[in-house]
Amino acid sequence: MEAGSALDAAPLRGFKDFYQYASTTRIIAGRELLGSTGFEFQKEGARRVFVVTDEVIRGTGLVERVEAGVADGGLEVAGVFDQVPQDSSTDVCERCAAAAKEAGADSFLAVGGGSVMDTAKVADAVFTHGGGAAEQEGFFLMPREDDGMGRPLDIAPLACVPTTAGTGSEVSMAAVIKDPERKVKLEIADFPLFPRLAILDPETTRTLPPAIAAATGMDAMTHAIEGYVSTDWSPHQDARSLQALRMIRDNLERAVQNGEQDEEARGNMLIAANLAITIALGSVHAMSHPAGAQFGVPHGVANAIHLPHVVEHNAAGGSDIADRYRDIADVFDVSAPEVGPALAAYLTELIAGLGLPTRLSEVGVPESGIPALVEGAMGDGTTLLNPREMGEDEYTALYRRAL
Ligand SMILES: [Fe+2]
Repeated sequence: MEAGSALDAAPLRGFKDFYQYASTTRIIAGRELLGSTGFEFQKEGARRVFVVTDEVIRGTGLVERVEAGVADGGLEVAGVFDQVPQDSSTDVCERCAAAAKEAGADSFLAVGGGSVMDTAKVADAVFTHGGGAAEQEGFFLMPREDDGMGRPLDIAPLACVPTTAGTGSEVSMAAVIKDPERKVKLEIADFPLFPRLAILDPETTRTLPPAIAAATGMDAMTHAIEGYVSTDWSPHQDARSLQALRMIRDNLERAVQNGEQDEEARGNMLIAANLAITIALGSVHAMSHPAGAQFGVPHGVANAIHLPHVVEHNAAGGSDIADRYRDIADVFDVSAPEVGPALAAYLTELIAGLGLPTRLSEVGVPESGIPALVEGAMGDGTTLLNPREMGEDEYTALYRRAL
């Protein structure tokens, strides 16, 4: 078949009919940057900064150091919200927005992992535009000038200091939070959610527990792989995905096994996570979101469990899909006539070597939970971006294999 012909449901090569690409976050990366937080954030319009974090991060002393950096630049800390849970939700975002209003803040500074950063994004949108957190749901639906046809309206300046290397939320236009009433993960994506500033300093991940470094690192790995094979692929993202994979290959195990001593590996993983992130994902994320919403499986752990099964399934879906996985396998020096099983086996071994669970039954998911998980995966937006068309039967089989 001709590359990109009309008969090809999901052409994964050739010149695309359409794609768009944006990456508007200013990134500063390097050593000893926390003291410059205020100096840098001032350039993005911040004056009275509202800090969003969680109790664990606050307990490490990192927040105080960032606050000192804010003050050092002549900015004020208007308040600190440290009540973000591991798996944040709409009500937390609303409380956070109300607290920022109460404090008279004009900007948000997230210090934490994906849950903290996503909470800050949604809280900022609620803070700026009003309404409830669940109303923010959707892709490219945020308020725009000219009755919704013009430029998207800015939200208050947001800066992120990630304390894990994986989510990439600090440079992405997306946020995922739980709606506790509907027991689903809400996905929100639009240009204003790109943080204005991301500060990447390996000091922030120095004391990261190895299990978290492993799980979040596998989230970055999943973004790089899913982004590369997504029907919503683009040459811009391809370049990022492949470099992310090389950096993850060279740094993930080092960062997990000897992270506290290995500043270079930690710093490189922070950058790899930035390169890997995209909203063009696929069925690994479609399966992991309901596992998180319904059974509390941490996002990176769920991705690590599902990834090898989805790789093997997708790669069997046609030669153009297999070709894309072959590019990925090349990065890891995996070569075999059948790329799917070979790459899946490589990933499974890597994941086990990182000390992560490899089965859903190890993380509290019962067999009886599968039908609801399948329903969740079918309803997840990333299902539409998977290179192989997915249905209930396919998802049921994959969850069973992962059990
Ligand atoms: Fe993810």
